[in-house]
Amino acid sequence: MSKPQNKEGFSSALTIFFATLGSAIGLGNIWKFPYLTGVNGGAAFIIIYLGFVLILGIPLMLAEFYIGRSTGSNPIGAFDKIKDSKWPKANKIFKVSGVFTMITSMFVMFYYSAVAGWVYSYLFKAIKGDFNVLATMNVSDAVNFTKTSFTQTVSDGKVAVFWQFVVLLIVTIVLAKGVQKGIEKVTSTLMPVLLVLIVVCDVRALMLSKAGEGISFLMKPDFSKVSTDMILTAMGLAFFKLAIAMGVLIVFSGYYKKDTNLIGISFKVAISDVVISIMAGLAIFPVVFEFGLNPSEGAGLLFQSIPLSFAKLPMGNILLIAFFLLTAIAATTAMISLSEVPVRFLSQQFNISRKLSVIISTSIMFLIGALTVHPSSIFGGVRIFNKNLFDFFDFTTSNVLIPITGLLTAIFVGYVINKKSFVNEITNEGALAKYKGFVNFVLFSLKVLCPILIILIFISSFK
Ligand code: PFF
Repeated sequence: MSKPQNKEGFSSALTIFFATLGSAIGLGNIWKFPYLTGVNGGAAFIIIYLGFVLILGIPLMLAEFYIGRSTGSNPIGAFDKIKDSKWPKANKIFKVSGVFTMITSMFVMFYYSAVAGWVYSYLFKAIKGDFNVLATMNVSDAVNFTKTSFTQTVSDGKVAVFWQFVVLLIVTIVLAKGVQKGIEKVTSTLMPVLLVLIVVCDVRALMLSKAGEGISFLMKPDFSKVSTDMILTAMGLAFFKLAIAMGVLIVFSGYYKKDTNLIGISFKVAISDVVISIMAGLAIFPVVFEFGLNPSEGAGLLFQSIPLSFAKLPMGNILLIAFFLLTAIAATTAMISLSEVPVRFLSQQFNISRKLSVIISTSIMFLIGALTVHPSSIFGGVRIFNKNLFDFFDFTTSNVLIPITGLLTAIFVGYVINKKSFVNEITNEGALAKYKGFVNFVLFSLKVLCPILIILIFISSFK
């Protein structure tokens, strides 16, 4: 094992919080959470989502923190280092979850970096004033304009690949600087900036005449929307939002301090993440409703409805710049965290320098990403299981690899590890003994609730 990397670590409780929050906050807060909340019963969905965060999200976060902090290792190497295993041979079997984690981090990066590239290109367009023409257009012309603009961005291979390259270059530079000078510095500078930008967008949006409609779309509880599908959506979203089963939490907790309050971090991150998602919704929907547009999901919302409606407000272009800047920040910090997973793996397992590990990891992400996920790229037309490669990477990670890894992690920590070892790690060797009751609940969840719920998500996602 290479010792120098093992010494790396975050420097304070605050920077540990910001770095971990940086992995939770991402495109999901803007193009997934607000829309899913709006169509699935507003506050009713948020309550169910929070329930899953508590019974499934936080226990799995703590399980990953246990694996990461007790070994200081990457998701694959960790299974060789865990000593407190009841059946040491089982570690080898569970190592497969580490392998899945590595594949997940790469697969997610292939398409996430492409979408982040579109975000950067929209930020650039907003700065250049490309959307100013929308202000005077009627709504149907404006709808056509934003549609064409998005189709061009995505289908012009050179432009899309250029921006994906820029995104990954930034990630490369930050990661090459190291854990403290790179990841920690960037996340603890950008997270507060993101908060300020989102507050600016919220204040503007909430001053509009349709603010009430936007708020009620997002928040009004509608318990008639509770259904199996809605419950499963909430569970899947909790995984994605909290970056569970992607290796990030294992790697980052290896950089935590021995006295870091792991339970405190998991709650603070989960709650701040929900608050940011709700704030994003409050910035988006009042504006979208103001111009009579239908709230949509994903790309339609981010790259069409938002430019259209924001650009129509007085001083809208400034607001649009603020909005795409905050989205770019969210996407970038998520990618920095995710890319650290293969970097840590390469530098520890093959004993190579951090810089070389970063270059190898981001080059693979760029090459495969650029060659596969854009419709006009060389393998852009390839279909696997009737899906293009963009959807294939998304589907296999969200619906197959992440649930299986989550399940294996829950079983490993719930059954294979000595209970005492887990309790000691999470309570910082007894210093946080007051949380013992909660730690017992976490163990119950890992043994019983997580396996049952994850198997349910898994089966139902194939129906
Ligand atoms: N949690 C991020 C989001 O909501 O967009 C996505 C993400 C970040 C996934 C970091 C994985 C990861 F390691």
